[in-house]
Amino acid sequence: MSTPDATLLKDFATLSAFGATSGGGVDRQAATAADGEQRAWLHQWLTARGAEVRYDGVGNQFGLFTVIPGAPYVLTGSHLDSQPLGGRYDGAYGVLASAHAAHRAVQRWNASDGTPRHNVAVVNWFNEEGSRFKPSMMGSAVFTGKLPAETALTTTDPTGTTVEAALREIGTIGDYPGPDVAAYAEIHIEQGRDLENKGLNIGLVDATWAARKYQVVVRGEQSHTGSTVMADRRDALLGASLLVVAVRELAEESTDIPLHTSVSEMTILPNSPVVVAREVRMHVDLRSPDEALLDAAAKRLAESIPGIEERASVTIGQVQTHGWGVAAFPATGVELAAQAADELSLSHQTMMTIAGHDSVNMKDIAPSIMLFVPSVEGISHNEGELTDDTDISAGTDLLTEVVHRLMSG
Ligand code: GLV
Ligand code: MN
Ligand code: MN
Ligand code: MN
Repeated sequence: MSTPDATLLKDFATLSAFGATSGGGVDRQAATAADGEQRAWLHQWLTARGAEVRYDGVGNQFGLFTVIPGAPYVLTGSHLDSQPLGGRYDGAYGVLASAHAAHRAVQRWNASDGTPRHNVAVVNWFNEEGSRFKPSMMGSAVFTGKLPAETALTTTDPTGTTVEAALREIGTIGDYPGPDVAAYAEIHIEQGRDLENKGLNIGLVDATWAARKYQVVVRGEQSHTGSTVMADRRDALLGASLLVVAVRELAEESTDIPLHTSVSEMTILPNSPVVVAREVRMHVDLRSPDEALLDAAAKRLAESIPGIEERASVTIGQVQTHGWGVAAFPATGVELAAQAADELSLSHQTMMTIAGHDSVNMKDIAPSIMLFVPSVEGISHNEGELTDDTDISAGTDLLTEVVHRLMSG
């Protein structure tokens, strides 16, 4: 692999300073001030290189490099928003790599005798993480018609601020309908350790695992932790705890096919010492490469609820809020990316994505290519997230090649 591109690394360092945390990560949740600052920086970066920057009605940020007026666009991007104590690479690497790749591809076409059939545009999808506003992958879900814009805009964060109000606050909402998309390409850190374990440079995503996400509410009764006799308690936190264990056991029972299960967010009310909790809200996340297994697990979880309700004297309600199925990425895109990787002497394998990405939405409306670069020790959604500079640079070279090829139509 060639020496890392110094300009790319310098830009990545600049980007990583927005919302930087003391632990070496970033806190740039959707439509916060830090998100606004990094969006303004990207806006300027793109404009300075000849792109026109436009925002759609849910804050998706597009940088249009128009070479052939009226022609559709190869769209390439990811997301700049992060988890509250997130890493510097998740999403942001993909947006920056896309910006560099699009700019380089245009320069290459300009320097050649040929003419592309498609333009290229960079996209920074709004709210991929879903940590401040649910669901995750919000911007791309609206863009692909899976989520009504009105539903997204009226979604509130825990303080009651709507998506629309937050986007207006940072000034990145507009009326651009979005480009006509000929193809979509996204690069991202793997967020697992498969590439690193195998010593490979690149993952070519050929399919996605399925996911199901639920909001669960456990309701009990608020009372005094000291004076309430045990038999009279209706402890919502006990019900929630039993449910956490039941969720974990689903994965432990599935020995042949992987099943990843988590409770990842919890709100305890009133969350005060000497008070038995009256209500606990929690986020349950189930994933598997086998959708039938996932459905069976969801059914087993539902069946475990009456026993938990009885033991803790609580009531439990659950609604599925989000999810996606096992689905393939087009083989032609995988083949195009494999050829480009071979040309750059980058080792590669096909693999499934376990994490959700905006490409999971985009693949349903346009031919889509998803690329992975290695994550050191597979660490992600953690301030310690790391990808080697050589991998950052090689992935961007590959994305450039992919975008350049897609532009020829
Ligand atoms: C989003 O990143 C998800 O994996 O759910
Ligand atoms: Mn991401
Ligand atoms: Mn993420
Ligand atoms: Mn993701």
